[in-house]
Amino acid sequence: MNILLIGSGGREHAFAWKLTQSKLCDKLFIAPGNAGTALCGTNLPIAVNDFELLSAACITNKVDMVLVGPEEPLVKGIYDHFQNSPATKHIAVIGPSKEASQLEGSKAFAKAFMQRHNIPTAAYGEFTTENYNEGVDYIKNHSLPIVLKADGLAAGKGVLICQHTIEALSEFELMLRQSKFGDAGKKVVVEEFLKGIELSVFVLTDGQNYVLLPEAKDYKRVGEGDTGLNTGGMGAVSPLPFVNSAFLQKVKETIIEPTIAGLKKDKLEYRGFIFFGLMNDDGDPKVIEYNCRMGDPETEVVIPRIKNDLVELLTATAQQQLNKVVIETDSRCAAAVVAVSGGYPGDYKSEVAIEGLADEVLENSLIFQSGTKQLGNDIVTNGGRVLVVTSFGDTISEAAEQSNYMMEQLYFEDMYFRSDIGYEFP
Ligand code: AMP
Ligand code: GLY
Repeated sequence: MNILLIGSGGREHAFAWKLTQSKLCDKLFIAPGNAGTALCGTNLPIAVNDFELLSAACITNKVDMVLVGPEEPLVKGIYDHFQNSPATKHIAVIGPSKEASQLEGSKAFAKAFMQRHNIPTAAYGEFTTENYNEGVDYIKNHSLPIVLKADGLAAGKGVLICQHTIEALSEFELMLRQSKFGDAGKKVVVEEFLKGIELSVFVLTDGQNYVLLPEAKDYKRVGEGDTGLNTGGMGAVSPLPFVNSAFLQKVKETIIEPTIAGLKKDKLEYRGFIFFGLMNDDGDPKVIEYNCRMGDPETEVVIPRIKNDLVELLTATAQQQLNKVVIETDSRCAAAVVAVSGGYPGDYKSEVAIEGLADEVLENSLIFQSGTKQLGNDIVTNGGRVLVVTSFGDTISEAAEQSNYMMEQLYFEDMYFRSDIGYEFP
């Protein structure tokens, strides 16, 4: 079959790499893709939110399946757009409907969903300019730290963890009265701070059944030792030593299964990945957030650890046959290290030449490209996160060490990467 993959990050390069290993994949198209995905298929210069052009490209290229990488087209309704047109209705879109994507697109929607279906999460209040004073009282009477979240998509910047009431009140005012996050912050969720260890759990669901994928942890802060500003993710590891079968059983029973049952009960159409951002508080999992897609860089460790044919998995998802699928996992550990442009997550240079990509890659390592593009004969930087090296090892530290070594063989001006990914797991 012919497949269109939407997105342009390291996540999409990892997906593209895996899709082309399937005998079932005839032609792979990526929109818009990057210089790495161009090694796996044909990049189409179409923006992820241009549904008209994406539909037209699917018809022209006889595409049978669309895999949506990032959240934005999902939240904007790409699934419904394809479903609602007779010319594209037959194409299987892997990703939730517009309404179901609200699990990521609106924090208030996600919190109400969890409350309705009894899924453990932080206690919260929801405020707009209409009940502004109630919000002020809620914050004044709340324990510290306290968490403020812009309701809508805010490019990963909409969550603030405040240590002082006065700071929380000031941020609350900035969000609701000064439009700090634009429309995304017109509604604010104020919630309890959850303590514990963060982890990410992923499932693929067809709306009836689900399969559990390998878990992962990502490293969000730019600096070593988890310091400095938040980023899209500087690295990821999988599996996690503290995730044992008793903990996973709790995650399934108290979180995953009630979520799938809730989707069914609320008639939310969902055939795609669910990314559960969880907090493990002494063996008790709680949901921090839902994402309606895979993570980046989590995909770069999760997908290489899955032995199944990805096209078979996605076909079973589209046909609601995931009950017939058994996930086979590579038992080795994987560690992904991300190289970013100096200055990221602030300002950085673009179109800087990258060296070393044509050199030999060590056995047990993979190079995925993120913000890269072809410029003449060169591959140059084209974004904050530029390259990802994933390596396998018997332990996380062995895998991370090899990724660091491979990273040192790659070069671009002002390149930076964290050399401590997986530091807490010896
Ligand atoms: P989100 O944008 O929802 O992924 O939140 C960003 C990050 O903020 C999460 O990955 C957590 O590290 C942190 N966070 C969000 N909500 C909470 C909470 N209720 N308690 C503790 N940390 C939180
Ligand atoms: N790495 C976090 C995310 O993809 O949301």
